[in-house]
This record gives sequence, structure tokens and C-alpha cells, in this order.
Amino acid sequence: MMKYYLKCVKCGYETLDFPAWFSANQECVKCKTKYSEVWYHSDYNNFPDLLRGNPEDFWYYFDYLPLNDRKNVVSCKEGAAPMERWEFLRDYARKEFGINCYVYVYRNDLNGGTNTFKDVAASLAASLFKEHNITQYTIASTGNTATAYSKYLSLAGIKLTVFVPDCITQDSVNEMHSYHQDVRIVDGDYAFAKKMAAQFHQQNKILISSGNIDPIRVEAKKTMVFEFLRQLGEMPDVYIQAVSGGTGPIAIDKGVRELEPLYPYINLPRMVLVQQDTCDPMVQGWEEAVEDNFPDGWETRYPIINNPQTSVSILSTGNPAMYPVVAPIVKKSGGSFVRVKEENLTDLAAKVYKEKNLVLGPASIVCLSGFYKALQEKQINNGDTVLINTGEGVARAKEFEGEVMG
Ligand SMILES: Cc1ncc(COP(=O)(O)O)c(C=O)c1O
Ligand SMILES: [Zn+2]
Repeated sequence: MMKYYLKCVKCGYETLDFPAWFSANQECVKCKTKYSEVWYHSDYNNFPDLLRGNPEDFWYYFDYLPLNDRKNVVSCKEGAAPMERWEFLRDYARKEFGINCYVYVYRNDLNGGTNTFKDVAASLAASLFKEHNITQYTIASTGNTATAYSKYLSLAGIKLTVFVPDCITQDSVNEMHSYHQDVRIVDGDYAFAKKMAAQFHQQNKILISSGNIDPIRVEAKKTMVFEFLRQLGEMPDVYIQAVSGGTGPIAIDKGVRELEPLYPYINLPRMVLVQQDTCDPMVQGWEEAVEDNFPDGWETRYPIINNPQTSVSILSTGNPAMYPVVAPIVKKSGGSFVRVKEENLTDLAAKVYKEKNLVLGPASIVCLSGFYKALQEKQINNGDTVLINTGEGVARAKEFEGEVMG
């Protein structure tokens, strides 16, 4: 028996494994939709034991990842960073809002690959491609996925062509070049980069990532749920993340559903998904839905922002095609989308620097701003455990770092 299979979210059709999935053009052969999830024949009775361990990386959850042979693992110690309690945030909530909460920060800048929460996805992708002798790949990205895939695929000897928007930081481009990958900066925004990547995939018959619902990316990131349980002993009540395409929330929802048979009382945390005011199509769509009391088809209504004018290039998805998938997850969780001001990011980053002697990347500061906004909007209650998932360090945003350090 295979270790895993893919199952179509729409019609339930089962695809044997990743080679079959790739040769079916990454769609369900029955209903032709692109959204399938990985499920396992592995024994979940062994899972609770894992929660007592102290792993170095997310490959610790090997039995629940779609790789057949451990010898194919390509890893740089990612996906098991210790969660930190940030007392100045807890103090702020108590002093300013009278809210007693526990605040943990999951610092993805501590990941060993390229210091972002994209490292786990790139690690699983590189390992899987190695296992199935895939030698070329293509992906579009706002920057961090591109950088992570550049590094990990190069470690596996796989040639990558990445398509990135013209707003990308030069630091990111330089790092990708250092891994000797083919970097194409398109003359336009992220939506255009996706279009160019799709064209490249079609013309050259080179495998492409299927986007934010890509089962490889989702499976890697769902291990966040495992880490929450291992490190906190329970699911957080509130989960805060800066959102661009939406892989994070999609993956958390998958992880929770995967563990439901084992832990029937496991809860999806209330998701607070944050966007900066210069590129906030999901927040706008959500606000309209709230205003109209979630009418039929609400999740399909959202604006498209062409060429978003934001300096946070990592969070520049102006056309959030996955909103119809992400927004219902947020609704089901009892959470919401919140908007923060881009003009306030440097001040908050400077405050974090003062408190923690640490400079984080702008997308991480958007996420942290979401904590303050969630307090203002009364999304955090007394007794809540709040998990703030900061996605990146500052290494590829030197200009931002300069502003923060003054
Ligand atoms: C640092 C950081 N934060 C947040 C995001 C948003 O991730 P997603 O919306 O795909 O969950 C990304 C990726 O685009 C990122 O690199
Ligand atoms: Zn189907």
C-alpha cells in the first residue's frame, strides 16, 4: 500500500500519488479541478508520542508527509523553531485594554534555509522532486517562496525558473542568483508574474507549482498545527498572520482536519489575517461581506488591485484568487481580516528592536501590527492564547532595516 494518496476536495476522486498527480497536470482526472489534498494510511496512534519529542526540523513528522524514502530528504533545519513568549505584547494588552492573554511568537526567521515560513514548503518540494527524478521546475512568487525554492531546489540539483514582480527587493534577487537559478523579473505585478510563469510552463512542459492550494505547500505548512500542539500543548485560541496568497490559513485548516479523528475536540484557532492598507483586497472583500451580513456567494466578491503601490513587496497579491477558499475558513474559525497602516510599520519595527534587540522583515511587522489591530477590534478575549506567526527576517529588506535602525 502507498503511504499516502491525493483526494479531490470537490468530488472525492483519489489520485494514487504525486507522479500520477503530475502526469494528470495536477488536476482531478474526473472533475478537472485543481484542489486535491494529501491523506495518509499512516498510523495516527503513534502521533501523540511525537508531541513529547524535541525535533530539529519538521521532517520529524515524516510519517505524515508525502515522501516515501527518508534518504531523499533535503533539509536545512526548518519548521521546528521554538515559540517565544513576548511579554511586552502581553503587558500592552493588559495595560491598554485590560485583556489578560498569553502571547507567543513563532519566529520563522529562525528557519535554517532562507529564514522564512516558506522554507518548509521548499524543503518538501525539493525532497519530493528528488524522489521522483524531477529535474526542472517553475514557480511565480512575490519573493520569499522564490528564494526558498531557489535554495532548496539547487541543493537537490534541480533547475528552477522563477517569475517575480518588478517590485521585488534587489536583496531577494541577489540571493536567488547566488543559488544559480534562473530569475525572471517581469515587467509588472505579481498577477502578471503568475501569468508569465503559466505561459513558460505550457510552452516548455516544465512542472509548475499549482499555487496556494498546491498540496506540496499545504502539506509542509500543515505541520505548523503539529508544532502548536507539541510546543503549546493545545491549539492557540487566536492565530495571527500577514496574508498574501493564503497558503498559511489553508494549511492550518488542513492540519486541524487531519487530526480531528484523533483529537475530536481540536479547534481551528480564530484566524486574524492581516493586510497593509496599500494592498488589502481580502480585507475589502471581507468588510463588504460583513456589512451585507454574508449574502449568498459573498466569498466570491472581492476587488482586484492592479499594480498595488506597496513597499511590502512580499505582500503584494493584488488579485487574491484564493479568497473564495480562505475567507470561508476565516469565517468558520470565528476570526476576521484586518487592515493595518503601512506608514506605521517602521515605528513598530523600531519598538520591536528596542524590546527584543531584533529587526524583523516588513511582512513580519505587518503581522505584528495585526495584534494591535485585533485588540482594538476586540478580537482578543481574556484568557486567550495568541499565536503570532511572523514569516520573515530582515536579511532581504536592507532598506527597511536601515529605516528601522535610523
Ligand atoms: C513573510 C511572509 N508573511 C506572509 C506571507 C503570506 O503567506 P500566505 O498568504 O501564502 O499564507 C508570505 C508569503 O507570501 C511571507 O513570505
Ligand atoms: Zn474531482
